[in-house]
Amino acid sequence: MSLPTYDITSGYADYFERHRLFDALPTIGYAPVKMAPAERLLLWSLAYSTRPRSYLEIGSLEGGSALIVASALDTLGASGRLALIEPSPRIAPAVWTRLAPRTTLVRGFSPAAIPEAVASLGGPVELAFVDGDHGFAGALADGEGLLPYLADGAYVLFHDCHLPAVARAIDDLLARHSTRWVDAGIVTREVTRERTAGGGEITWGGLRLLRHRSAALSRDEIGP
Ligand SMILES: C[S@@+](CC[C@H](N)C(=O)[O-])C[C@H]1O[C@@H](n2cnc3c(N)ncnc32)[C@H](O)[C@@H]1O
Repeated sequence: MSLPTYDITSGYADYFERHRLFDALPTIGYAPVKMAPAERLLLWSLAYSTRPRSYLEIGSLEGGSALIVASALDTLGASGRLALIEPSPRIAPAVWTRLAPRTTLVRGFSPAAIPEAVASLGGPVELAFVDGDHGFAGALADGEGLLPYLADGAYVLFHDCHLPAVARAIDDLLARHSTRWVDAGIVTREVTRERTAGGGEITWGGLRLLRHRSAALSRDEIGP
């Protein structure tokens, strides 16, 4: 796989202190984000542990999820770049100040804006966060639109995977391109339930993690 590894052999003692790991927790708490605590921690941890050189986000609104990823990269002292696709950004100046040194904001709609956003990253996407159009067709189009731009081994997180339309879109994406994805499944357990106008109930939230393979998986790897 094309994702790099990082040698931390020298100086493992006081690693956490030197990397200001615990200073990052307040950022996870105050980031202007529509994500449950477990989802914030998972996004931060995934960015910290995979250290992406290129992060693509679909749907950024106030920049909270991007801030969480930037915080992880800041903590590492890593130089990864962020590209955000959002038609109606409402990113406060204080948040943009933290993001700006490593971030390109593309005001537009995914999937059409994906090529422009990826061009700003200087290489294929190593981590993507999909949190834009939560309809079936939109979420499916985002997944398919990302495929040509993903590094081998890239991680893709879909938010709101408990929404029925998003759940179906991810299942469809996996069925259509079964040799190109490894499905890690739903990796958070927190959900929010809301009453609908019609008296029903809708469940949202949740992160589902997929891993991309640019070379087709063999039958053995896909399983029965
Ligand atoms: C739930 S908000 C994103 C929140 C953000 N990821 C966070 O957690 O901080 C969803 C956003 O997706 C945007 N959006 C909707 N359709 C989109 C599309 N096709 N491409 C990009 N963004 C889209 C909306 O404008 C909205 O701001």
